[in-house]
Amino acid sequence: MRDSARRTPMLSETDAMSRRLADLPPVHSDSLLALIALANADPRPDKIDVGVGVFRDGQGNTPILKVIKEAEQRLRDSQETKAYLGSAGDKRFAELLRPILLGRHADDDRIAGVQTPGGCGALRLGFELIAAANPSARVLIGTPSWPNHAPIVESVGLEVVDYPYYERGQGIIRFDEMIAALRSARPGDVPLLHGCCHNPTGADLDEAQWAEVMKVVVERGLLPLVDIAYQGFGRGLDDDAAGLRGILDACDEVVVAQSCDKNFSVYRDRVGCLYVKTGKPETTATAMAHVFQMAREMWSMPPDHGAAAVRIVLDDPELKQRWHGELDAMRDRINGVRARIAAADPRLAYIGRQFGMFSMLPLSREQVHQLRDEHGIYMADSGRFNVVGMSDVAVDRFTAAVVDALGN
Ligand SMILES: Cc1ncc(COP(=O)(O)O)c(C=O)c1O
Repeated sequence: MRDSARRTPMLSETDAMSRRLADLPPVHSDSLLALIALANADPRPDKIDVGVGVFRDGQGNTPILKVIKEAEQRLRDSQETKAYLGSAGDKRFAELLRPILLGRHADDDRIAGVQTPGGCGALRLGFELIAAANPSARVLIGTPSWPNHAPIVESVGLEVVDYPYYERGQGIIRFDEMIAALRSARPGDVPLLHGCCHNPTGADLDEAQWAEVMKVVVERGLLPLVDIAYQGFGRGLDDDAAGLRGILDACDEVVVAQSCDKNFSVYRDRVGCLYVKTGKPETTATAMAHVFQMAREMWSMPPDHGAAAVRIVLDDPELKQRWHGELDAMRDRINGVRARIAAADPRLAYIGRQFGMFSMLPLSREQVHQLRDEHGIYMADSGRFNVVGMSDVAVDRFTAAVVDALGN
């Protein structure tokens, strides 16, 4: 079992009976939240906040997409009721997303999808389902990973097994170690795979690596859970889903957690979807009955507004086309900033070969703090930074400060 010190210790039964709310132990807050607070409090007008986890445009803003604005207007004008929709949420929304995510698998009746409150909701629901089916499944997470992965897995009572995924000094995947970890897994164990735009490293599996992973997953009888939160931010909608679609080709049982919060820029509206694939349509229907029951117990039904706006966009060919354009523009900015940083110094060249909003710099904690104190540049202690956290005019200053911190 991995070190789960971050979790609040469970109270013994007697303790629990005698304790009051006022006796709860303190919780160590998420270090990223603390970083945001520090950046906000910095009075320097030219500070650079690359700790933030949202897309920013060249001016440093996170605007609402034009197509979402228009869909929201249409929703306002046409919506006649706010009566409950049920635990499945907006079914048309989930249907319209299928071809975008699943491609050639969109018509596979062994795959069912359900709207969730964001990608987090999909992850939690997916792991609830896995834990109900197989409480002794272990979840294999390559480190570093998105900091919320392990806590979500542990919150459903499943064990997390870490393996090293990334070599920060060289900017490469520790692929042999990943494969060795998958090979030593037990049948029914769950590799948690990033669909694309790996957070926090930006280091995605290439085609050959995905093929190798699929081979081992099948050989060992594993149940992959693919988390895809940035489709369209890396190489394009289809290319970013290629690994997932290959996994669906190879495996009878797959769970997929999808977030639309980034590629539709609706973060706070909490838009996501969970997909479950089993070997037969009937067994998928039974699994989904469990999913609806679990969703009912956790959030009863997902929030409507963001999913309804996304549904309106996808249901209108003209709006959908325009969404592609806005998504392409976000991707172009990400890749453009990556290219600029990569060109500045050979030690940063790897950043140009990675995908999505995040990368890690090979800086010590002290160097990260020095950047903060001397230049007003805010990033996580791990060296993770958001390549589009900074405006266009700040890129050269950011890069020069980083190169300076790296030394000779
Ligand atoms: C890898 C990964 N998965 C899932 C999520 C969750 O996304 P959402 O905001 O839709 O819950 C995130 C968000 O940062 C993420 O980076």
